[in-house]
Amino acid sequence: MTARILQRQKMGLIVAGALVLLLSLLLATPAGAEPPGQETEKYCLSCHSDPNLSMTLPNGEILSLFISQDVISHSVHSPLGIECEACHTDITTYPHPTVTFETRRELSRTYYLACQKCHPGNYEKTLDSMHADVAADGNMDAPVCTDCHGAHDVGKPDEPRALISETCSKCHGDIVEIYKQSVHGAALIEEGNPDVPTCTDCHGVHNIQDPRTADFRVQSPEMCAECHANQELMSKYGLSSDVYSIYKHSWHGVDLTVYKARWPTIWHDSAVCTDCHGTHDIFKTDDPKSKVNPNNLLMTCQECHPGVGPNWTDAWTGHNEISFERTPFLFYVESFYSSFTPFVLWACVVYVALQVIRSIVDRVRSSLP
Ligand code: HEC
Ligand code: HEC
Ligand code: HEC
Ligand code: HEC
Ligand code: HEC
Ligand code: HEC
Ligand code: HEC
Ligand code: HEC
Ligand code: HEC
Repeated sequence: MTARILQRQKMGLIVAGALVLLLSLLLATPAGAEPPGQETEKYCLSCHSDPNLSMTLPNGEILSLFISQDVISHSVHSPLGIECEACHTDITTYPHPTVTFETRRELSRTYYLACQKCHPGNYEKTLDSMHADVAADGNMDAPVCTDCHGAHDVGKPDEPRALISETCSKCHGDIVEIYKQSVHGAALIEEGNPDVPTCTDCHGVHNIQDPRTADFRVQSPEMCAECHANQELMSKYGLSSDVYSIYKHSWHGVDLTVYKARWPTIWHDSAVCTDCHGTHDIFKTDDPKSKVNPNNLLMTCQECHPGVGPNWTDAWTGHNEISFERTPFLFYVESFYSSFTPFVLWACVVYVALQVIRSIVDRVRSSLP
């Protein structure tokens, strides 16, 4: 009897224990739990939120190890639950593994590889870039992901669009200064105009190639044509959209087409758009600074046609069809030939026809008795 009561009490205890266990399990994993990673973030920041935490690198540089909670939570990754351990896969607890880098720069070039896990496409592209080439040749200043995007403060890289040239200016400040003065740069930086090109429209982003090769040069008119042959876009600015098609029929354009088809890797000097207009320093054609402004045009031609006189620029028939308003002399010459040539041809036809009739008449006459 007492044994049975004891048995029941035991059962009761087991059931109660099981219930308590179940309840505590339920409470421990409530619905709407914290995003994955928050636990680790809290753990890591328990030390790294100390503004004075730092370490001395093997080369003597002092590296601040302070990670601001505020900065990290404004990163594009944070709302997606991508936290410390997603990138720092080798660090899970303290003490950390022994470091393999000697300098601040080596640290960046080691840790940026974490980005490739989730952005393999962009990573692949960066390997095929001018920046990777110069790094392979030993220039450690060439940028990696974090130089352009940051690591803990990654934002949208093209908002606002002017941010793109800002990013490049960290290392190409001189070019960006020139670009800002140009018709394209001023429109973007001062007016926020999205129709004009910024660095990445002409150079690409992750797979930037060397722009000083023959190959890049012969392709470059197409780069400008993306916009300047677009009638809808150009009419917004009152600009001709025939500049490309007429360039293609000009001496320079035809010459370049031949080279492009047969010897794309051989450097050829025939003028491309940027030879006459400039590259990062393109101005409106009536701007005194423009290379094609009437006051500067002869000098621009002389860069490749040394010694030619002031009449040389008359060889420039422009990007426009020949018209009475723009080029009256050429208009007359062309009108003359376009009416005179058919006239001469018709005169010949009439002359030959008359000759034939004449010889028939003569023959008929001579056969008459
Ligand atoms: C107990 C305090 C503490 C905790 C917790 C901690 N760290 Fe550290 N961390 C340090 C100290 C101290 C250093 C300086 C170098 C050293 O002592 O290893 C450091 C260095 C680092 C470094 C730079 C040097 C290196 O090893 O690459 C990174 C990156 C880092 N911690 C990331 C993390 C991450 C990620 C977490 C969370 C998983 C974390 N830490 C948790 C104290 C801590
Ligand atoms: C999106 C990937 C990513 C996340 C998320 C991330 N880190 Fe980093 N972390 C990096 C990279 C890349 C570097 C190297 C930074 C550089 O190139 O300057 C780095 C560097 C560090 C350093 C060295 C000091 C410094 O500022 O360069 C510490 C410490 C560190 N991280 C801790 C943390 C902690 C703690 C967290 C979470 C709160 C965290 N990281 C989250 C990618 C990340
Ligand atoms: C654990 C995966 C993961 C890692 C590691 C990671 N990212 Fe991301 N990243 C994402 C996801 C997911 C998005 C949001 C979706 C998208 O836009 O591709 C994103 C967005 C971005 C964006 C914003 C894209 C936009 O236009 O909105 C940039 C820039 C970026 N990551 C750069 C980096 C860099 C630099 C690193 C290394 C320091 C890195 N990411 C590491 C997953 C990751
Ligand atoms: C030389 C600077 C630079 C480097 C290096 C760089 N980026 Fe970018 N990245 C940019 C710029 C600028 C944009 C915005 C491009 C645009 O809108 O034209 C961008 C766009 C992005 C985007 C959003 C658009 C997209 O393509 O999905 C992601 C994600 C990104 N980069 C990740 C990376 C990663 C990962 C690396 C390293 C493997 C990297 N970037 C290296 C400058 C850079
Ligand atoms: C962290 C520094 C850094 C950043 C940021 C950077 N670059 Fe570079 N870039 C370099 C270095 C270094 C070289 C190699 C210079 C050399 O050896 O002539 C280079 C080379 C180039 C070249 C090849 C021509 C040359 O001078 O060799 C182009 C084009 C280029 N960068 C464009 C860009 C663009 C566009 C951006 C912005 C999206 C950018 N870079 C951002 C450092 C940077
Ligand atoms: C309209 C197209 C275009 C835009 C926009 C543009 N570039 Fe270029 N860039 C070129 C061309 C074409 C060349 C090659 C010209 C030459 O042979 O010098 C070049 C050359 C370069 C070079 C290497 C040669 C040099 O002059 O030192 C760098 C670096 C460069 N650009 C960076 C940039 C940066 C940074 C920006 C943004 C501020 C930018 N580019 C905007 C077309 C452009
Ligand atoms: C992404 C589109 C885009 C690309 C690519 C582009 N442009 Fe432009 N360009 C414009 C727009 C839009 C304007 C008008 C800006 C304004 O007036 O505010 C302009 C203006 C100009 C002007 C001034 C015309 C005038 O007299 O008002 C010249 C010259 C010019 N571009 C030449 C070039 C050359 C050469 C290239 C190639 C190296 C090029 N552009 C590439 C969009 C582009
Ligand atoms: C970047 C160099 C360059 C610039 C700038 C340049 N040209 Fe040329 N031009 C050439 C080359 C190369 C040829 C082809 C020569 C040949 O094949 O005989 C050529 C051919 C010509 C020809 C026909 C052939 C001849 O030699 O009579 C004319 C006309 C001409 N250019 C006019 C001009 C005018 C006008 C300008 C200024 C508005 C100008 N060029 C600017 C490089 C240039
Ligand atoms: C041989 C020199 C030369 C070459 C090559 C050249 N241009 Fe021009 N461009 C000029 C001159 C000179 C003017 C001003 C007079 C005119 O409009 O004909 C001009 C005017 C322009 C204008 C202003 C047009 C307008 O409606 O006011 C644009 C845009 C332009 N060029 C773009 C280009 C593009 C794009 C290319 C390459 C496909 C190119 N140019 C090639 C010399 C050149």
